[in-house]
Amino acid sequence: MTLIFAHRGYSGAYPENTMLAFMQAEKFCADGIELDVQLTKDGEVVVIHDETIDRTTNGKGFVKDYTLAELQKFDASYTYKKFGKRNPIPTLEEVLQWLQSNHLYCNIELKSGTSYEELVEKVIYLVRSYRMSERIIVSSFNHYSIVHSYRLAPEVEIAPLYREGLYMPWIYAGAIHAKAIHPNFKVAPDFIIKSSLKHGIKVRPYTVNNEKEMKRLFSLGCSAIITDELKKAVQYRKQ
Ligand code: G3P
Ligand code: CA
Repeated sequence: MTLIFAHRGYSGAYPENTMLAFMQAEKFCADGIELDVQLTKDGEVVVIHDETIDRTTNGKGFVKDYTLAELQKFDASYTYKKFGKRNPIPTLEEVLQWLQSNHLYCNIELKSGTSYEELVEKVIYLVRSYRMSERIIVSSFNHYSIVHSYRLAPEVEIAPLYREGLYMPWIYAGAIHAKAIHPNFKVAPDFIIKSSLKHGIKVRPYTVNNEKEMKRLFSLGCSAIITDELKKAVQYRKQ
């Protein structure tokens, strides 16, 4: 069965990369969540997509220029007035703590900052501290990051993210010890998915939000899809 990963949590209906979006993903029957991580000025691993906080919070500036305490004063749900409550930027540690209460998979996307090695090392330290290696997939567009992750922690699955058409991506995946690939769905035609699966490489395309694409991937028996539209995906998979 194709698994459904909630992209930045259930971001189609809740503020992305917040504890609220992750908890709603569990409630709406996701098999896993996807989230993005970066380092703060004081070296903490926080969950946020953009390099700046401008789009998703009521603050301004670069994540790397704020300490964790400063960052957590901002509201990562300020455009979602209907939820009333303030939702701060979570730390990866908070998410790992919460994951102890369920069985969700968690795809941690390492964002590409200058100190990518430090980010990898901190993420692996946390994953191991919470004994989460079996439910974590570490992905990145920066393939040096995931290779570094594999060298530090071969027990944690890695997956390259990519958005250009790769020739025989299952060969590339094997060469870097990745057990999965995370292509943009636009560069994941049927034959690439079928061949990858045949060669033992899982395929989890992102960000799959339309009905036709979801149905194509479900009928191919794709390993997972990464989607903002969790409720729809669960409904189409049932059909
Ligand atoms: O991990 C899949 C997807 O999240 C990659 O793109 O920009 O949404 O982080 P982006
Ligand atoms: Ca992401």
